[in-house]
Amino acid sequence: MKTVRVDASRSYEVKIGRGLLAAVGGEAAAITSGQVFVVSDGNVAPLYLARVVESLRQAGLTVSSVSVPAGETSKSVEYYVNLLNLFAAKHLTRSDAVIALGGGVVGDLAGFAAATYLRGVPVIQIPTTLLAMVDSSVGGKTAIDLPAGKNLVGAFHQPALVLCDPDALSTLPDEHFRDGCAEVVKTAVLFDRALFDHLRDNGPDFDRETVIARCVELKRDVVCRDEFDTGERQLLNLGHTVGHAIETRSHFAVSHGRAVAIGIAIMARAFSRDAAEIVSVLRAFGLPAETDFSAEELAQAALSDKKRSGDTITLVVPERIGEPLLKNIPVGELPAVIKAGL
Ligand code: GLY
Repeated sequence: MKTVRVDASRSYEVKIGRGLLAAVGGEAAAITSGQVFVVSDGNVAPLYLARVVESLRQAGLTVSSVSVPAGETSKSVEYYVNLLNLFAAKHLTRSDAVIALGGGVVGDLAGFAAATYLRGVPVIQIPTTLLAMVDSSVGGKTAIDLPAGKNLVGAFHQPALVLCDPDALSTLPDEHFRDGCAEVVKTAVLFDRALFDHLRDNGPDFDRETVIARCVELKRDVVCRDEFDTGERQLLNLGHTVGHAIETRSHFAVSHGRAVAIGIAIMARAFSRDAAEIVSVLRAFGLPAETDFSAEELAQAALSDKKRSGDTITLVVPERIGEPLLKNIPVGELPAVIKAGL
């Protein structure tokens, strides 16, 4: 087992090890001796909820649970308020804990409910997808969606503990695993030439525990320097400006991971001296590096992003592998930049 310590506004450990799902009870009992409320979803609950609940009960904890429908639609105001009411019905207190058992949607929804109920109760993140293990479960971003856009309501709420069991990836549909690989490749392109080389040499058969732990360490370093996302943390958005535009233009037929992979490839071709290597590793992971959308279509979708402000847009530029930078460009230049990378 590997342990990564995060010293942000709250200090916590991210543990990565096979079999952790069956050992959740002992780990959670170190956080609370009261009750725990487990939030999961319709894909994950049938696979792991019983095992986790059993382990928690064995550790002497009082356990309640709920399963929300799998998918982004659960990150809504309605499901959020439902969770708050369920917490209240169980008289959850700040000495208790919420457990998020699932992928990014469950982590964001349960994390935001935990962030706001009683002005904050501890949350234990137990990510079961690769994307959630290497990205969304670490760093404290929680959110729900509004009809006007994704993640428009949220809070920074660092978890009390994160438990990653790589065995959970064996039940992950191949498509979802590859989506998570896009975030792994992103992390390597941004921060770590040696990790990139490991991915290039091993492809999707990379060493799960080592790679997840390394991605968590690299994200941890950024989060600890810029927890509240006012500067350096924006580097984690490599490929996401164009990626979000592709998701929107395709009406979400192109998944987040695939859209981000195309976004990384476009930024690489537009700006990086290592573009050929980056594109070749994306392809080795079965990820796409091209799109049929035009530069104008993508720029238009990117610029209508509700979170953009002013006349400039910040791009993450992978100049060399391991050497990223943030570049502000006038919005009028975006179509030409994307065109250079298509
Ligand atoms: N997923 C990007 C971040 O945590 O900042």
